[in-house]
Amino acid sequence: MKVSEEKYVIVGFGWVGQANAIALTQLGYDVSYFDPGNPSHHYAEFSDLYKKIEPLSSLKQNDARNTCYMVCVGDKVSEEGEQDISNIKTVLASLRGAKGGVMLRSTILPGLLEELNYDWYVPEFLHEKKAVEECLDPFFFVIGKKDGARPEPSVCALWQKRAGKTFSGTAREASLIKYLSNLWNSTRIAFVNEFGDAIGRPTDKKRLVEIERVIDFLFDHRMYMRYGRAFSGHCLPKDTRAFRSWYEKNGTKFPLIAGVYESNSRHAQLEKELPLLPEWYSEWPDRHISGWRALSELLYAIRKNVAHPLLAWKRMTGGRK
Ligand SMILES: NC(=O)c1ccc[n+]([C@@H]2O[C@H](COP(=O)([O-])OP(=O)(O)OC[C@H]3O[C@@H](n4cnc5c(N)ncnc54)[C@H](O)[C@@H]3O)[C@@H](O)[C@H]2O)c1
Repeated sequence: MKVSEEKYVIVGFGWVGQANAIALTQLGYDVSYFDPGNPSHHYAEFSDLYKKIEPLSSLKQNDARNTCYMVCVGDKVSEEGEQDISNIKTVLASLRGAKGGVMLRSTILPGLLEELNYDWYVPEFLHEKKAVEECLDPFFFVIGKKDGARPEPSVCALWQKRAGKTFSGTAREASLIKYLSNLWNSTRIAFVNEFGDAIGRPTDKKRLVEIERVIDFLFDHRMYMRYGRAFSGHCLPKDTRAFRSWYEKNGTKFPLIAGVYESNSRHAQLEKELPLLPEWYSEWPDRHISGWRALSELLYAIRKNVAHPLLAWKRMTGGRK
């Protein structure tokens, strides 16, 4: 199907919905949205593109065989880790019998996905500060298809081409990858912060610099691995709680994941006394490398793939010709 023949309806116009809507509009698609919550605009710098995205007064107003519903409605997670997807369920129930296909983008535990009705599960990996850019060129494109799902909309092929890494499998696998990514990010942040807290309190700039020098030497200022504020925001705390609680229901303990949440909460308390702690924002690394870094990566690859086999051959043959 041609780009111009498809219609994308974004359901849930929050952080994720708006970033997807703007990116799709920029890619030349016909985009509208449905959200009864009257949400405010999160990405002011794209005010021109917002004007092209039509608000709908009813969910199936633009329903047709060439419509793709992109469901970006939020989940909620209680302090105990219970995931509430009732808003998502309501939308999916209303879309039953729709002529268009349904792409689910919300973060949903694998066990809860089974009972839902949609065509493709494509979890979102964006960071809020670079959300639109990361919707145009996703770092990961992960798709889980339901049995009997209809052919994917054309944006999937486009994303597949533009993505840093792609995965195609079941919805369960796609959800597990999403949670693995978030849990790994929260684990790294909590670990680095706990290590920093253990070696000293950044009560003045000098102490903070010492902690940072130690940590940054080993981790090269990499994102999620810099000493600073606790993780917070829309996703990491709720997803860490939800995953732990779901998998602990059958009696298995996850001390590391449980510890991550506890450690982060303690660090967040400490933060109130330590105003010097910096706040770091994350984004996926730039995939296009150039200059000196590109050259050093090339030299490394040559050493690894060309020089090493020669050495291995020499070792095996004892240097015989
Ligand atoms: N924010 C992020 O950076 C991020 C990143 C990756 C994944 N996610 C996941 O994406 C999902 C959405 O996150 P978000 O940050 O955009 O949430 P959000 O709260 O900003 O937006 C959700 C929107 O859904 C709307 N909504 C609720 N019920 C609805 C209904 N019945 N019909 C239509 N719209 C409805 C709300 O009014 C709200 O505007 C969550 O599952 C989240 O975990 C978020």
